[in-house]
Amino acid sequence: MRRAIALLLVGASLACANDVRRFRLQDPVWEDPDRNDVPGGPLPSYYSGLMADGADQMFFRPLAKLPTLPLTTEATNVNALDEVPNSAWFQNRIGFYDIPLDRFIKGPCDDVPDLDPKNGRWIVVAAKPNGANPGFFIKAPDGYRYLIKFDGTQQPGRPTASDVIGCRLYWAAGYHTTCNGIVYFPEDHLDIDPKAEAENAFGEDQPITQADIDKVLSKAYRTKDGLLRASFSRFVPGKPIGPFIYEGTRADDPNDVVPHNERRELRAIQVLAGWLGHFDSREQNTFNVWVKDGDRQYVRHFMIDFGSAFGSRWPRDQISRRLGRSYYFDTEHVLVDLLSLGLWPREWEHLEVNDQEIFGYYDGDTFTSSKWRAGYPNPAFDRLTPRDALWMVRILSRITPEHLRAAIELGRFHDPRETEALFELMMKRRQRIFAEYLTQYPPLATFRLARRTPDSLTQSLCFEDLALYHQVADPAVTYYKMRFRGGEDLDQELGWTQFTPDPEHPHRSCVVLPIGHKRPAQLAPPDAPDDDPLRYGVLDIFVHQTKSVRPTSAVRLHFYDLGAARGYRLVGVERVMDPVRPAGY
Ligand SMILES: Nc1ncnc2c1ncn2[C@@H]1O[C@H](COP(=O)(O)OP(=O)(O)OP(=O)(O)O)[C@@H](O)[C@H]1O
Ligand SMILES: [Mg+2]
Repeated sequence: MRRAIALLLVGASLACANDVRRFRLQDPVWEDPDRNDVPGGPLPSYYSGLMADGADQMFFRPLAKLPTLPLTTEATNVNALDEVPNSAWFQNRIGFYDIPLDRFIKGPCDDVPDLDPKNGRWIVVAAKPNGANPGFFIKAPDGYRYLIKFDGTQQPGRPTASDVIGCRLYWAAGYHTTCNGIVYFPEDHLDIDPKAEAENAFGEDQPITQADIDKVLSKAYRTKDGLLRASFSRFVPGKPIGPFIYEGTRADDPNDVVPHNERRELRAIQVLAGWLGHFDSREQNTFNVWVKDGDRQYVRHFMIDFGSAFGSRWPRDQISRRLGRSYYFDTEHVLVDLLSLGLWPREWEHLEVNDQEIFGYYDGDTFTSSKWRAGYPNPAFDRLTPRDALWMVRILSRITPEHLRAAIELGRFHDPRETEALFELMMKRRQRIFAEYLTQYPPLATFRLARRTPDSLTQSLCFEDLALYHQVADPAVTYYKMRFRGGEDLDQELGWTQFTPDPEHPHRSCVVLPIGHKRPAQLAPPDAPDDDPLRYGVLDIFVHQTKSVRPTSAVRLHFYDLGAARGYRLVGVERVMDPVRPAGY
């Protein structure tokens, strides 16, 4: 708990007269200290029953929460720059670094070659207990264990491809995932470990027989030359100890101090899962692994199983159309239907199956990210705030079409039209995410202080406008208004400026500092320490995406001015969701 409070204080604010929070003069926290050695061996496994979590989230939890006020609170594991530090849950990747295509394609698989049947026979060691599609755990000659899953007869290619594509995109976004890929192998490639067992219909463990294997393989998708298609998931080093829960903390894990539904990276999965249509995004598709990292042992948290993405269909089309748009049992929708005698129109009612049928009702035209719903309520998604969503939007915005194409190609669809169709659908859906969030909330990102030459005394502040980059706002109308303030109460106006984006590179803007004639350092005595309150400056950037005088959104940047030679230091970024126009604006 103490650490949670410490993290909170990182961007630490001391309220002052005119309600501007002040940040400390320090580097933002980029490493969450939640990977400390946990003595005493692996923590016990948690078992999440197939139905129990769904029942809890759909029925019992909403009932239990009835008497409480639904408060919107911001995520707590956010640093002073409005970003998420690296942790046992998350590692900043594409949001921060350009990932070259070859590195992206390797993803979590690193340099270990893909599972390849040419290297020798596989031994089935267990059968996959539940889930939508059949599968086995195998031991391969490369020494690794794998989970292999098949497509089933419906939508051949989609479940296996989804598992691989989803895994790569989640990895790039920053989540810990397993190494997944597609493999083709001949039917007689499997041996059975005499100790291998599978659950029968009564939940009893029975030895696996060749007949069990044949039954599974008979339903699996095959190529024209008789090869079976499967997705593989390589076991990660360490001991799996069951899923994590999307709320609260684990009492027996001293590293786990931030309630999971207050973790930004868990809340913001709503946006990523929505993009992929991964409605099966629930605790059962996560897992904790007890890992050894140098001389420390602790729990690392993984996301797995993306097989529901890209339009998974259920046997009844009425249900398939609703997936991602309504919970399996959706109290709100049921009530509205009852009160409106079923006359309330639902946008999914008239959805048609995609031309490429394997993508079912995964659609780019009616998708609204903020309204997207997983199969049943997820306590972390329920707490998503626009700031959390924007954080994921910034990450998604750095996935290039080349990355996306490479990810889809890893799914190895048989028909190039399927590859193309999925690419188009995903681009369309992502564009709808951009259009929704970047036109309501601050579209600015990547704030940098730069000098034209290393010994120049002039500093510029540069930033990107993602709404312009993704063409959801009009560069001809967009303009920025900036106000710089300093002084003891941060109410002394040091300068105003206003400018429109440069048509040559509308999504990248730079402005020379100081804005106005005075810089904060001039207000402080010459020998003032670096963190003297008078060196503090606050820059409000009002973003106008329409001709209205009312700004669409705003960002507030916090600086310490260390003088002309050492320059400004950016210590805080706040995104203002509903900006108030200052007097005289
Ligand atoms: N790479 C892996 N390493 C270790 N265990 C794994 C791995 N992948 C999966 N598992 C284990 O297997 C279980 C089932 O995996 P997964 O969620 O992918 O399958 P499923 O839900 O049965 O699949 P589907 O719904 O697509 O049929 C997981 O809960 C996890 O315990
Ligand atoms: Mg699963």
